[in-house]
Amino acid sequence: MVKTNEKLIVKGKRLDGRAIEDLRPVKMDVDVIERADGSAQVAFGNTETIVSVYGPRKLYPRFLQKSDTGILRCRYNMAPFSVEDRKRPGPGRRSIEISKVTRLALEPATFLTDFPKTVVDVFIEVLRGDGSTRVAGVNAASIALATAGVPMRDLVVACSVGKIDGKLVVDLNGLEDNNSEADIAFAIMPSKEKVTLLQMDGRLTKEELFESLDLAKKTCKKIYEMQKSALKESFKD
Ligand code: CDP
Repeated sequence: MVKTNEKLIVKGKRLDGRAIEDLRPVKMDVDVIERADGSAQVAFGNTETIVSVYGPRKLYPRFLQKSDTGILRCRYNMAPFSVEDRKRPGPGRRSIEISKVTRLALEPATFLTDFPKTVVDVFIEVLRGDGSTRVAGVNAASIALATAGVPMRDLVVACSVGKIDGKLVVDLNGLEDNNSEADIAFAIMPSKEKVTLLQMDGRLTKEELFESLDLAKKTCKKIYEMQKSALKESFKD
């Protein structure tokens, strides 16, 4: 964790040159893993995630099966080399929590009642972590599920919003995240405006919270378009 006493916003610009409402350069590719049923690679600046999806496939052991629906399982994992200090391999409290909220963020978008007794597995690997990894993972998982052919009500789109140097900004990088006064992870199904993930660290006033949510919605609309173009691109061939 890098703490700094430096100003994070100088003359209206953040230290990486962005304005307060700018995203980092975004890259989205789908079908990047041949053996998976669906996959995607998504980068927001130096935060890079790759997701593979398997299923719906029969769930074993059988006692875990649900006779009236399929289930979704998500695993969020940070590669040991993904952050400055080597990340200890294996699940920790943080990745278990992120795996759970990722599942809860994605589940409302899926129609798994059409696939009883099955499981859809979503494996999120963080290759490089530089802030906002959970929302990058949700964005990648959402388009990976779509390429796997899992029936969905809508895509799930996610972004981070936070307060640094007293200002609300979007898509926090690692330095900003570690030095923020507050940060929010947000996900939405845009067509129905249904929020599926909302987590906050730190403190905001009620007005700032509402302003942050508006900013998050606006940002997710931009990301939604990028997700749709990445999917359309893959159907071109
Ligand atoms: O990544 P996200 O913002 O969703 O989650 P976080 O728990 O708020 O972590 C913020 C950032 O801290 C990550 O994106 C990484 O850049 C960094 N981090 C780290 O350097 N080493 C870890 N073991 C965990 C997080």
